[in-house]
Amino acid sequence: MSPILDPYSLEVLTRGAEQTRRVGVRLGQLLRGGEVICLEGPLGVGKTVLAQGVGEGWGSTTPLLSPSFVLIREHRRAADAQRLLHVDFYRLRSEMDVQGLGLEEWLEDPAAIVLIEWPDRAPGVLPPQRLWVHLEFASEGGAEVSSLSRRRLLFTAHGDAYLPLLRALRRAIFGG
Ligand SMILES: Nc1ncnc2c1ncn2[C@@H]1O[C@H](COP(=O)(O)OP(=O)(O)OP(=O)(O)O)[C@@H](O)[C@H]1O
Ligand SMILES: [Mg+2]
Repeated sequence: MSPILDPYSLEVLTRGAEQTRRVGVRLGQLLRGGEVICLEGPLGVGKTVLAQGVGEGWGSTTPLLSPSFVLIREHRRAADAQRLLHVDFYRLRSEMDVQGLGLEEWLEDPAAIVLIEWPDRAPGVLPPQRLWVHLEFASEGGAEVSSLSRRRLLFTAHGDAYLPLLRALRRAIFGG
């Protein structure tokens, strides 16, 4: 695990779902409200596992599930009136379907945090400022069984507003 020396991106390699969940917990603990976090990557790579960690770190009173048939799930926490919206665009047939979900209001709400799985299915609704997380299967080590649980998480700040968050996340994960 070595951090890339670029303020706009942070690479984390995980070995097992538990490590990915813990990275999410760190991120969730750092959220202040108003963040939009896009989780992009292939089926089964760990987007929901990461989102579950974020929900836990943020303090959600309800566990984040795999949204599947539900496009948006709203979560609360005991500490304050913030909301965490867990969005999954996997089943979206067209960007038109996003209309009527109220997502635009949530995206502008400074007291809401929006986590989006499959954001690439509705690029038109995403705000330009966001934290982008690309997840991929990291298969170095060839066909050995243990490589099945390796993932590469690449966090990228889209917009300078996300630089402090990325810096704090880097510190929380790697120290220093
Ligand atoms: N390093 C890892 N990080 C995350 N998940 C892992 C890792 N290693 C193995 N897994 C397993 O991979 C699966 C990831 O499932 P998850 O539902 O989070 O994927 P997803 O990206 O949300 O998929 P979908 O596109 O269907 O929503 C889980 O079964 C998890 O246990
Ligand atoms: Mg998922």
